[in-house]
Amino acid sequence: MRTQVGIIGAGPAGLLLSHLLHLQGIDSIILESRSREEIEGTIRAGVLEQGTVDLLNATGVGARMMKEGHVHHGIELQFNGRRHRIDMHELTGGKKITVYAQHEVIKDLVAARLEAGAKIYFNVKDVSLHQIESSSPIIQFLPENATDYEEVNCDFIAGCDGFHGPSRQAIPANLRVEKQKIYPFGWLGILAKTPQVNPELIYSNHERGFALISTRSPEIQRHYIQVDPKDDIANWSDDRIWSELHARVDMDGWSILDGPIIQKNIVSMRSFVCETMRYGNLFLAGDAAHIVPPTGAKGLNLAAADVQVLAKGLSEYYHSGEEDLLNRYSEICLRRIWKAQRFSYWMTTMLHRNFEHSSFEYNIQLAELDYVTSSQAAATSLAENYVGLPMEIQTNYSIKI
Ligand code: APR
Ligand code: PHB
Repeated sequence: MRTQVGIIGAGPAGLLLSHLLHLQGIDSIILESRSREEIEGTIRAGVLEQGTVDLLNATGVGARMMKEGHVHHGIELQFNGRRHRIDMHELTGGKKITVYAQHEVIKDLVAARLEAGAKIYFNVKDVSLHQIESSSPIIQFLPENATDYEEVNCDFIAGCDGFHGPSRQAIPANLRVEKQKIYPFGWLGILAKTPQVNPELIYSNHERGFALISTRSPEIQRHYIQVDPKDDIANWSDDRIWSELHARVDMDGWSILDGPIIQKNIVSMRSFVCETMRYGNLFLAGDAAHIVPPTGAKGLNLAAADVQVLAKGLSEYYHSGEEDLLNRYSEICLRRIWKAQRFSYWMTTMLHRNFEHSSFEYNIQLAELDYVTSSQAAATSLAENYVGLPMEIQTNYSIKI
């Protein structure tokens, strides 16, 4: 089979890229190793920057997000038994974030793509990339229930297959520089059937460890606690999780509400960047090229920013033969990625309890929190990063849907 852009991975990066290309008359095929049910059911993070929300709306896939997502104008930082609000809306000249789960974004994108007649192959196996230095790269794969391999012949391959996918590995090792930091922190995340307790997210630095109070709907809450990344979820009964959450976020006269936990898991945390994001006619986007720790809520938003640049570069190439933007893809994306890495690293180190640190370092952390919640300049810096820095490349989508 033949297409213009062969996309590996139906996460936010692959699906959004395919959608943006379609709106510009560019054909793509998506190959995904998991089932539709699985990608639409995997619980991930859920904070959308203003720019991501604007992009989804401008391209006609924002209707359910606008109805079911929750707009937040600020966040709260808790430490030393007190809570301090960062008014992002006020500090950024009116920007805000929307809490809308990543798998809901996936559902909206899959529905839009399939409705437009897109080819998405789910449950494929053994995806491999060939001739990526040439102008006619090939993706080979085994379709679901098939015994014979098939090939996608394309002009470009978009590697949107997450951190563990094959795309990044297809770049020769001597031409890719990988930089990473592994943190001694893990996040135990829960979904609980309890009423919402706070109108905004609470990031708490407690001496027992970090905790985050988030939400999905008035009835379903999403909370996290810092744990050892090597810990086993089997060690965490529901009672133990609630008692740890109470210890880390309750204050005089205010308490989170317990209830049935409907999902729980532990994820480890890392920062990772692959430099370069392009090799020949292979372009990496999203988690295939970079990972951020979730404390800055940047993962999905960075993926959306990458594919916005890539879609524009491909559009210029197909519509006017101009390759300049494609040639600068890696450089443009990496500038934003490193700033998001800096912010995510800073939020992570400021908010987590590092049990290997001395009391001196702990006090520096508390002073940092004190500074950021008492200085307008520092709070503005946090706010402008949290709602999302401006995009270097602007695209105006005028859609006909
Ligand atoms: N063949 C085909 N598909 C693959 C393969 C493979 N060999 N390996 C992985 N995939 C698929 C995965 O099943 C997944 O659906 O690629 C997709 C990658 O999606 P994500 O991991 O969600 O990555 P991305 O689209 O870059 O989105 C980044 O998602 O993981 C979160 O926190 C992350 O919010 C960030 C966002
Ligand atoms: C979430 O709601 O899942 C969430 C919110 C904020 C974060 C990370 C995750 O920083």
